[in-house]
Amino acid sequence: MRLPGHPHIAYRGDRLHIDDLALDDLGSRFGTPLYAYSRRAMLDALAGYQRALAGRDHLICYAMKANSNLAVLQTFAQAGCGFDIVSGGEFERVLAAGGDPAKVVFSGVGKTRAEMAQALAAGVGCFNVESESELELLSEVAAAAGRPAGISLRVNPDVDARTHPYISTGLKDNKFGIAHDAALAAYRRAASLPGIEVLGIDCHIGSQITAAEPYLDALDRVLDLVEAVESAGIPLHHLDLGGGLGITYTDEQPPAAEALVGAMLGRIDARGHGHRRILLEPGRSLVGNAGVLLAEVLYLKRGGEKAFCIVDAAMNDLMRPAMYEAWMGIVACRLRDQAPQEMDVVGPVCESGDWLGRARSLAVQPGDRLAVLSAGAYGMSMASNYNTRGRAAEVLVDGDACWLIRDRETPADQFRGEHLVPR
Ligand code: LLP
Repeated sequence: MRLPGHPHIAYRGDRLHIDDLALDDLGSRFGTPLYAYSRRAMLDALAGYQRALAGRDHLICYAMKANSNLAVLQTFAQAGCGFDIVSGGEFERVLAAGGDPAKVVFSGVGKTRAEMAQALAAGVGCFNVESESELELLSEVAAAAGRPAGISLRVNPDVDARTHPYISTGLKDNKFGIAHDAALAAYRRAASLPGIEVLGIDCHIGSQITAAEPYLDALDRVLDLVEAVESAGIPLHHLDLGGGLGITYTDEQPPAAEALVGAMLGRIDARGHGHRRILLEPGRSLVGNAGVLLAEVLYLKRGGEKAFCIVDAAMNDLMRPAMYEAWMGIVACRLRDQAPQEMDVVGPVCESGDWLGRARSLAVQPGDRLAVLSAGAYGMSMASNYNTRGRAAEVLVDGDACWLIRDRETPADQFRGEHLVPR
């Protein structure tokens, strides 16, 4: 039995599998909470983008904030990807995973002087600059380092991505990017500054976008700017169109990556910009539905009107429900011949906001395992140690092979670096 939107996660008989491995077996072998990812699912998702871009000068920069495990980065690096990063720490991960620094774009509104210097020294491909003050500082750092900084300006096209307000970034009231009507002046300034080499233009309007229109609206606004900037004598070599394509958590029907990118390229060609290098920064759509979070049912309990299923994974392992009230699919790893009951799936953390799913219909007993679906993106990468809970282990699956790609964190791991005072 297939799960819609999850081609690599399916029931075989009564047991839920990821690729060719039963999730229950992974739980027994590695313990829970456990993140499990299908490498094939990631590469299949990437292939949609690659097909659309075949034959063009392009670079797919995986937005690693979605899932920054080294083995995940290695998978994408080996498949030819670059990376979209937002911190010096993410840059270190790219290098540790064998990624090519020249294929890195550095985004983010708050790059520090030290991060700029580090990225320049390592040969970063491009800074996506988000403000004029950042531009001035970068010029100073690059001039001092004697290495030119390649830049794009991240422009804010002021379009509504029609997604959750916390993950919408392209409206003029967001903190991101340079306002559309200030961008031409900022490009003029960039072209005049020492140490700055203008390479392209960048835009990213939000995340979990499930329609093509906001992308095409933003693209038109960006192309208008490209034309204005080039008329001012500043050539732009690449268009970085950001990430943000949504996935199916429940009944969303986002466009397929291949169709979306195809439509965008059609617009780019129609407006005479087909010669430009295309950069994309997908995150969630490459990894989200490649992964699950496995949890074990600890207790079933009734509280007043409600039934609770208390599991060993919590908001510290997976923040999305608590933070955005996000709906994530939750299914049993083994189907039982018993009537399902409606219950809230909650974790052990001491917060009422610690829930993974509300009013879910499940047929489970203590000791059973559940899989939270679509957890490959913004799951582990947002995990914390709240309640001194060690972060989960992670495994990467490929067919019937699997590798532990992150050890379960111990209490000693957590307080390494803390110190008692002498008195
Ligand atoms: N590029 C930039 C500049 C970004 O800020 C982001 C995501 C991406 C690319 C990748 O977007 P994606 O393709 O993954 O949608 N924690 C939230 C999502 C935050 C997204 C932040 N920026 C969540 O769990 O839904």
